[in-house]
Amino acid sequence: MSISKAILDVLEQSSWIRKMFEEGIQLKKEFGEKNIFDLSLGNPLLEPPEKFKKKLIELSNSDEKGLHRYMPNQGFQSTREKVANSLAKESNFPITAEELIITTGAAGGVNAILKSILNPNDEIIVFSPFFVEYLFYIKNHNGIPVIAKTDENFFPDLSDLSKKITKNTKGIIINSPNNPTGVLYPIEIIEKIGEILSSKEKELGTEIYLISDEPYRKIIFDNKKYPFIFPHHDRSIVVTSHSKDLGLAGERIGYIALSPKDKDKQVLYDALVFSLRTLGHVNATAIMQKSIEDIQEESVDINIYKQKRDYIYDELIQIGYECVKPDGAFYLFPKSPIEDDAKFVRILQNSKVLTVPGRGFGLAGYFRISYSVDDWVLEGSIEGFKKAFESIK
Ligand SMILES: Cc1ncc(COP(=O)(O)O)c(C=O)c1O
Repeated sequence: MSISKAILDVLEQSSWIRKMFEEGIQLKKEFGEKNIFDLSLGNPLLEPPEKFKKKLIELSNSDEKGLHRYMPNQGFQSTREKVANSLAKESNFPITAEELIITTGAAGGVNAILKSILNPNDEIIVFSPFFVEYLFYIKNHNGIPVIAKTDENFFPDLSDLSKKITKNTKGIIINSPNNPTGVLYPIEIIEKIGEILSSKEKELGTEIYLISDEPYRKIIFDNKKYPFIFPHHDRSIVVTSHSKDLGLAGERIGYIALSPKDKDKQVLYDALVFSLRTLGHVNATAIMQKSIEDIQEESVDINIYKQKRDYIYDELIQIGYECVKPDGAFYLFPKSPIEDDAKFVRILQNSKVLTVPGRGFGLAGYFRISYSVDDWVLEGSIEGFKKAFESIK
């Protein structure tokens, strides 16, 4: 076979996740779609705002010349200006179009960042549990993922972070609100991360990027405020998308914003534009760029996600599950009532509830629930959660 050995290895390793996915499809066939309660997928449920749809119609009728041609790879000037203005207002930090690049979602953005900053064998620190794609993205660009721990609240374990930073550390990726835990990092944690990075940079004579992957930034509950990284570290990079906040996951639209305080900002900017181009993303689609530029202050109805969080969290606690109550995104990460999370996920599966074992996110002993599903799915899952819990007593 002439397929890459590295890819074959990855396919082999992830085959049990695939197997579970396939078994889920089989179960739905066997028992009917309405009798299987699938909480395994992180697919945004809520539809884009009306203003987005109106703008699409307007754009499709537009006579503007050149709208569909090649453009500067960093994105339309008008889009970058409008997104930067909105971000500057939201973050209270002077971001301009010169610090902003429109990307093909956060996934495209993270890859462009890693391609731009990594030399072979440079290390990138991520906190477990993590969005598993980070490991692949880091390896895509010849980097080495280094895993740091989180504490009992799933906040970064700062002393472990200090220990994991070496001469080879090129950056750390944080993700808040977090996939898979839903946890929002408080400002104190961000401040301390900034302090640790600065003191390690001095100690080791290196430069370390703080990369904040924040596609769930606007999905925050109970009026909590989002702590931006910009004031806390000069070499900071924000990467995000409208996959979740505007419900546009399939449209692949997002952006990268650099800190105006980074002394190497211009070189990094040029490197990012080059990387986007040569990774083959080239630029986010013209129509999507134009369609989001005037709806930066809009979002899907966050309250619907909050109601779903409250419902499933309260039900699980009542049954006896242990779980950190998260402040954002649309996931819960309860403790598995037995040590073997993969085994418990199978028990749930036998009770017709589909979830993902924590080990799939680098932290065994937990499982992930996505509550970005219709209410009937959440309500229907409760009986299975009860049955599974009772069965292991
Ligand atoms: C933490 C995290 N980062 C990045 C992404 C990729 O998002 P996008 O659709 O913007 O590429 C996801 C998608 O689920 C995610 O959960």
